[in-house]
Parts: sequence; C-alpha cells; structure tokens
Amino acid sequence: MATLERTLGLIKPDAVRAGKSREIMQLAELSGFQLLAKKNLQLSQERAEEFYSEHQGKPFFPRLVEFMTSGPLYAMVLGKEDAVKAWRGLMGPTNSLAAKEQQPTCLRALYGTDGTQNATHGSDSAASAAREIGFFFPELQPDALEGPEATAEY
Ligand code: TYD
Ligand code: MG
Repeated sequence: MATLERTLGLIKPDAVRAGKSREIMQLAELSGFQLLAKKNLQLSQERAEEFYSEHQGKPFFPRLVEFMTSGPLYAMVLGKEDAVKAWRGLMGPTNSLAAKEQQPTCLRALYGTDGTQNATHGSDSAASAAREIGFFFPELQPDALEGPEATAEY
C-alpha cells in the first residue's frame, strides 16, 4: 500500500508578489499533491535566519534572508507518495536561470528569476520535512496526518 509522505512547500515572496500563489497550488494538486494545510505569513529576520540556519555564514545568506523577509509567503503541508522527492522534482533546480535551461516546465523555471529569487522551497529529506513542518505548523500533531499505522500504542 502506498504510504502518504509529507513535505513542507513554500511559495516564496517573489511568486506571491507576482500573483502566482493560486496557480502554483493548482499545479501542485494537478501533480497529485494533497494540500493538507496552508498558511499565509511574513517571516521576521530572526525566523528566516532560523529556518535557513544550515546556510548561516555562506556568502548568499544575507541576500537570502532579505529576500525571504521581503513580503508574505505561503507555507504548505503537501502530501503524496514520496512527497519530498516528488516536490523537489516539480520545483526543479535551485537556480531559476539554470532551471529555465534544464527543465523549462518546472516551478522554479516558470515562476522564479535567479539563484536567490526562485519562487518555491521544498524540504530536502524526511527529517527536514518534519523539522520544517513543525517550524511553520507547530499546532499540527506530528502523527495527525498519517495513516492508521501511526496509531499510538499503549
Ligand atoms: P539550498 O538549500 O542550497 O537550495 P534549495 O532551496 O534548492 O534546497 O539553498 C537555499 C536557498 O538559498 C535557495 O533556494 C536560494 C538561496 N541560494 C542563493 O541565494 N544562492 C546560492 O548560491 C544558493 C546555493 C542558494
Ligand atoms: Mg535546501
């Protein structure tokens, strides 16, 4: 039986500003993702730095934080079989300029601009997905969206 996996997707401030949020959500659903939860919010500098803490100290970090705090974004819990890998596949390469060359129908080619303003985020592993879903949706119980096999044992 196929297991539903969850990943954290973001529609970043550039794509929200361009009015593409609904279109990206529709493409996600047409690609077989369930939109299990979503919220619209703006990150503070402190929260953006925490979200991207693995990149602290890299040359692009200040530019990344400035971009991620530049306006509202959508955070989404996406469910699908093999969701982490599938969502990263739909997004395409990190750099939207490369994406336009290599995978012109991917989300980052369609909606992003360059190596920083790249329209979408997706968790890179099951462990990242758990951390990142907790970061944006602390009110969701970790097991609440999983199948019967997640039922607690006493
Ligand atoms: P990274 O985790 O490497 O990429 P991904 O989003 O595909 O997991 O980087 C996080 C974000 O940092 C990336 O989406 C855009 C930004 N970034 C830059 O601005 N410049 C860069 O050189 C890199 C590698 C990333
Ligand atoms: Mg990453």
